Amino acid sequence: MRTQIAAANWKMNLTLQEAQTLLDNILKQTDNIGENRKVIFAVPACYLTVANEKIANTSNVFVAAQNVYSKKSGAFTGELSVTMLKSINVNYAVIGHSERREYFNESNQFLADKVKICLEENITPIFCCGEALPVREVNQQNDFVTRQLEESLFSLSAEEIQKVIIAYEPIWAIGTGKTASSDQAQEMHAHIRTQIGRKYGEAVADGISILYGGSVKASNAKDIFGKPDVDGGLVGGSSLIADEFVPIIKALK
Ligand code: 13P
Repeated sequence: MRTQIAAANWKMNLTLQEAQTLLDNILKQTDNIGENRKVIFAVPACYLTVANEKIANTSNVFVAAQNVYSKKSGAFTGELSVTMLKSINVNYAVIGHSERREYFNESNQFLADKVKICLEENITPIFCCGEALPVREVNQQNDFVTRQLEESLFSLSAEEIQKVIIAYEPIWAIGTGKTASSDQAQEMHAHIRTQIGRKYGEAVADGISILYGGSVKASNAKDIFGKPDVDGGLVGGSSLIADEFVPIIKALK
């Protein structure tokens, strides 16, 4: 079975003290995550080291950066490189979240460079894709997501793409309380897997974890994660509340 993943995306939230309390709370309730499952915390950059210390004695729990730059070093004030992440033992990075695409104009091509540089440093990219409401309203979501995959991922080799985690996050469901139905999630996840299969073959497509993101909550996680092509979730708001995120972890297949 594919690895099942509950990933928290804290976005730009929590003070250091709040972050520490939240992690302590979640970790003490999830000491046995189980084989074939992972929990990943995408925390603000300034908490990466602290979060890594907190998870030091756990198994199957990891820390991720929420973003990384497309170059390894240089005069890029304010940016964070894969080399830096590696040097503090961070092995995952969220790439292409819709908020970065929208507010920081990150293009598919730019994201292709980020994915590539992550893989060069053995950092697992959690690559986000997903359509906005106007695209869904005219039923163009499949073509839209296909294009995101083609332009950001499909220049990778088969060996490289197997190391990528994909997160499908329909923008209209992010932070809105409006979740895609589990059938809508399944439909898109199956579509993504088919596109990967078309390019790289079924065996490669079958091995890639595809997470759903967008208003995942304790109350809907089981239904969504239960779908055959949904391999867990990338969770925003509900990952900031231990009583929400712990049941989400437990809802993994
Ligand atoms: P919400 O869970 O708050 O809708 O956010 C989803 C998300 O953007 C995770 O990356």
